[in-house]
Amino acid sequence: MVVILLGAPGVGKGTQAVRLADSNGAVHVSTGDLLRAARREGTELGRKAQSYMDAGELVPDDLILGLVREHLAGLPEGADILFDGFPRTIAQAQGLDTVLSDSGFGVGMVVLFEAPDEVLVKRLAGRRSCPECGSVYNVHFDPPAEEGICDRCGAKLVHRADDSPETVQRRLEVYKEQTAPLIEHYEGHDAEMVRIDADRSFDAVYEEFRQAVVGARA
Ligand code: AP5
Repeated sequence: MVVILLGAPGVGKGTQAVRLADSNGAVHVSTGDLLRAARREGTELGRKAQSYMDAGELVPDDLILGLVREHLAGLPEGADILFDGFPRTIAQAQGLDTVLSDSGFGVGMVVLFEAPDEVLVKRLAGRRSCPECGSVYNVHFDPPAEEGICDRCGAKLVHRADDSPETVQRRLEVYKEQTAPLIEHYEGHDAEMVRIDADRSFDAVYEEFRQAVVGARA
């Protein structure tokens, strides 16, 4: 099944997707992670994406759709996929439908994670990320065992450049302007839409998310 995790920056999409993928073998596809990897590797896509990401703007649709198409081609046929941070515009949603229908699939479920802006701002201010293995922590809510060091691989944690207060404000505006219209789009789509109150503990959010996805596959 193809599941889309929709929601504003910092709402917890990545955290919940990693946990579910670890437990049920689904493939987690985060366009943000793919873009950051492209930047680290210094590819042409990484160079093109850099200025958009640093400014909190969306990377152009054609670059994102090309990236997703290429990534999907490398996945096992029929894999369960959790899309995190994609699609982010109506054009991306339409492009995804085309890519999936070419292989006889469709979007099965859209999970909308919701939390107030002040919660998102606090979470992003406290987020620390591992540049090596991609693990995510939070100095307020989920600190690593040793300050500044990744529990999983021992690398030095970083505060993402786009988690600065000014860029976070812009990312929230961009979400409202360009991504939130996807809520209405998917309400009129064949996929099932599930709304989750993400302003709760990690475990409470995860349990509702897991049940929704596992229940839909049963
Ligand atoms: P991307 O990396 O996708 O960023 P985002 O969507 O802004 O999402 P985040 O990673 O900030 O948040 P999240 O919801 O995953 O939260 P997380 O789980 O980490 O994109 C970055 C940039 O790349 C974009 O700005 C754009 O430029 C570009 N881009 C990417 N995809 C694109 C696309 N499709 N089209 C165009 N451009 C694209 O959690 C956040 C923090 O909160 C963590 O510290 C976590 O520990 C904590 N937390 C999580 N859940 C809880 C909880 N329940 N209680 C307390 N703390 C919690």
